[in-house]
Amino acid sequence: MRMHRWLIVLLGLGLAGVAAATPAPGFQDTEGCLLCHKYPRMARITDDGVLRSYYILPEVFSRTVHRNVPCRDCHTEINELPHKPIKTGVTCSTECHSVKNPATGKPFSHKPIVDAYRESVHGRSKQAIGTDADKPYCITCHTNPLYNPTELAPPKQITDRCTLCHEDRNFVNRWYNHTSRRIREVRRTPEQIVALCSTCHDDKRMVERHQKKASAEGREIGRKFAIAVESYEESFHGKMVKYGFAAAANCLDCHADTVNYYKSVHEIRPSRDPASPVHKDRRVETCKRCHTYADKNYAQLDPHPTSKRGDNPFRYFAELIYNIVGYVVITGLVGLSLFETFGRRRDGVAWRLTHGSSWWRKSKRGRDRVV
Ligand code: HEC
Ligand code: HEC
Ligand code: HEC
Ligand code: HEC
Ligand code: HEC
Ligand code: HEC
Ligand code: HEC
Repeated sequence: MRMHRWLIVLLGLGLAGVAAATPAPGFQDTEGCLLCHKYPRMARITDDGVLRSYYILPEVFSRTVHRNVPCRDCHTEINELPHKPIKTGVTCSTECHSVKNPATGKPFSHKPIVDAYRESVHGRSKQAIGTDADKPYCITCHTNPLYNPTELAPPKQITDRCTLCHEDRNFVNRWYNHTSRRIREVRRTPEQIVALCSTCHDDKRMVERHQKKASAEGREIGRKFAIAVESYEESFHGKMVKYGFAAAANCLDCHADTVNYYKSVHEIRPSRDPASPVHKDRRVETCKRCHTYADKNYAQLDPHPTSKRGDNPFRYFAELIYNIVGYVVITGLVGLSLFETFGRRRDGVAWRLTHGSSWWRKSKRGRDRVV
């Protein structure tokens, strides 16, 4: 199912009406794929009952970041038309035949990112088997985003200026789109990052599968692996991010480096790896990014706090004692007022709502409280 998200997003966006935009000049269907694939509702239901959509809306595709990549640069398996069924699918490490990296002049490729990712804790091949399939591949985290989705065209007052020198408006629009999307802060928001990591790390069955597998293989797994998300949500950071305070730490603020952040998010390592920013030797430095005065003691504070007895006995007993004290006090207070009420009723004193609220009646037992 996950594999099709890429397309489903295109589909969803198409339905959302983005389709009304005019195709940008960057995209031309030189390979003739849209001959068949442009038809909406080109889809089928597989034997496992999954709906697979096969249509590409040219108006939408032409506004995505990959619009200059010809279909077969990614879909390398397709060598003839009509084509045969696909086996491996698209791997993000292939070299583009048609797009060159303007800086190096070499064919463009995401291979450096893929190499870093393969070394990370999430690394796997495209065709993953067994529990490896739980790990995120590039397209799990990245759908095919639109350029500047909120704007239909680049602002003219800027591009007019570029056009003055470059003379070709298409050239200028293309480069304006390319750079402006990166110069602007288009990172995921902290809430989005927490949501992204939570899709898997809050999935109890996935977590269990991996704990079992790790113990079967005699492999180590993080102390907080099973409770990473629920404990983060308990933490001060988690609560602040939940209420929209973006300065508090999200998952990647701790688990990725700030230096070369965009590469580092693809190199997440477990805390037992000395290269991880949350390894015990690097923790002070990591907290210091925001808590300027953090020292070794501060870094001891648990970013994944739980009240499990084995995990944090102090918190466990503190919570237990607070609970006991709390219940005793409340029971005592309510009990006392009940005793008092019954006692006074026995004395014949009743609650009056008018003329001031006080206990007010003649006592049958001669203990008058009437003044
Ligand atoms: C003659 C019509 C036709 C043309 C031209 C065509 N396709 Fe397809 N394509 C289809 C059909 C029909 C399917 C659905 C096959 C199925 O039901 O499994 C499909 C499915 C696909 C799939 C999914 C296959 C799978 O099994 O996951 C991909 C990817 C694809 N096409 C890419 C391309 C690309 C890239 C091109 C251009 C080089 C192209 N197609 C050109 C008809 C066409
Ligand atoms: C940047 C790379 C890239 C480009 C360019 C690209 N695709 Fe895809 N396409 C993918 C990925 C990734 C998937 C998800 C399936 C997978 O992982 O193999 C996909 C899925 C599809 C599917 C659905 C297959 C399925 O498994 O359900 C079709 C059909 C398709 N692409 C056709 C096209 C056509 C036609 C073009 C050109 C207009 C095109 N693609 C351009 C990367 C690309
Ligand atoms: C666990 C999720 C995850 C996986 C898996 C992942 N990425 Fe990323 N990627 C991110 C995050 C987070 C960013 C930072 C930008 C942001 O916050 O959206 C990013 C940024 C990028 C960027 C920079 C985008 C831009 O417009 O500046 C590229 C390119 C990229 N990733 C490619 C890849 C490739 C290729 C793979 C597969 C090897 C991959 N990513 C796998 C989460 C992921
Ligand atoms: C005063 C004239 C002038 C203006 C205004 C101008 N450029 Fe340029 N641009 C140039 C010149 C000259 C070059 C090539 C020489 C160089 O590399 O410095 C260039 C190079 C470029 C290149 C590199 C092209 C390549 O393939 O190497 C890009 C991309 C570009 N400009 C985009 C823009 C954009 C976008 C704007 C508007 C925001 C803009 N330029 C405004 C004069 C200008
Ligand atoms: C598609 C599912 C998925 C997503 C999304 C995901 N992870 Fe993971 N993560 C896994 C799996 C599976 C493992 C491997 C467990 C194992 O070693 O068997 C893992 C392992 C880890 C580990 C190391 C655990 C250990 O003790 O070895 C860390 C740390 C981690 N992920 C952090 C993150 C962060 C931070 C994010 C968000 C940017 C994230 N993950 C997003 C599935 C996911
Ligand atoms: C304030 C920093 C911080 C934040 C924010 C944070 N973590 Fe952690 N994380 C840590 C530290 C430190 C550890 C090691 C804890 C230990 O073993 O004592 C850890 C451990 C983990 C582990 C267990 C594997 C390992 O590397 O030991 C996973 C999985 C994990 N975090 C995922 C997440 C996810 C998902 C989020 C966001 C929902 C998140 N973390 C937010 C600091 C943080
Ligand atoms: C991305 C920035 C960032 C990082 C990294 C970060 N924190 Fe925080 N943290 C905050 C913000 C913002 C608050 C809100 C209160 C404040 O300003 O002190 C906070 C609050 C806290 C609190 C609540 C009590 C207090 O002191 O205000 C604790 C405990 C805490 N952080 C521990 C840690 C630890 C331990 C680390 C390192 C593993 C860490 N933080 C890393 C941003 C961060």
